[in-house]
Amino acid sequence: MKIIIIVAIAENGVIGKANGDLPWQVKEDFRHFKNTTLGYPIVMGRKSFEALGKPLKGRENIVITHNKNLSYNFENIRIFYSLDSAIDYCKTLNKEKIFITGGGEIYKQAISFADEMIISHMKFEAEGEVKFPEFDINKWEIISKDEREKFVIVTYSRKI
Ligand SMILES: NC(=O)c1ccc[n+]([C@@H]2O[C@H](COP(=O)([O-])OP(=O)(O)OC[C@H]3O[C@@H](n4cnc5c(N)ncnc54)[C@H](OP(=O)(O)O)[C@@H]3O)[C@@H](O)[C@H]2O)c1
Repeated sequence: MKIIIIVAIAENGVIGKANGDLPWQVKEDFRHFKNTTLGYPIVMGRKSFEALGKPLKGRENIVITHNKNLSYNFENIRIFYSLDSAIDYCKTLNKEKIFITGGGEIYKQAISFADEMIISHMKFEAEGEVKFPEFDINKWEIISKDEREKFVIVTYSRKI
């Protein structure tokens, strides 16, 4: 099972605002996100899930929190109390891949073990407090680049 980070990052490293909002609305990137993740489990932090407000359709939504009392009135959602336990659960699903869909805290933890990263590098800077963690580019090999009007999608694979 491949563990894949998927994220959109502004030129200055920003991925989101402290209040949970995404600083931009780029429809083509939302489309790319949907097309790429549809049918696969998506793993996200509690803050990112609450920013979405509801589970994304066609994907098992897995939310990580420390709060053992947390529950949501939605189907198609599972809550785990650690990233490790969420990944262990995903392994039981026999899926060829799963996606780590943010936000900053979750990316920071997942970047040490993810197999791939699909990064939409936005062609603009953005205002926001949440940044993607710094990573050592030498540990990653670029396996594809897909140029779009407002962003370029770069797929990185971890070097062995
Ligand atoms: N640009 C993009 O592609 C993209 C994608 C996704 C999100 N975002 C942005 O990212 C921002 C949110 O990121 P964030 O860093 O503030 O929050 P986050 O990573 O979405 O969620 C953080 C929360 O996850 C839980 N958590 C984290 N690590 C955990 C662990 N090891 N065990 C148990 N629970 C854990 C905690 O929930 P509790 O507090 O409940 O314990 C923590 O407060 C938003 O602005 C959003 O728009 C951007």
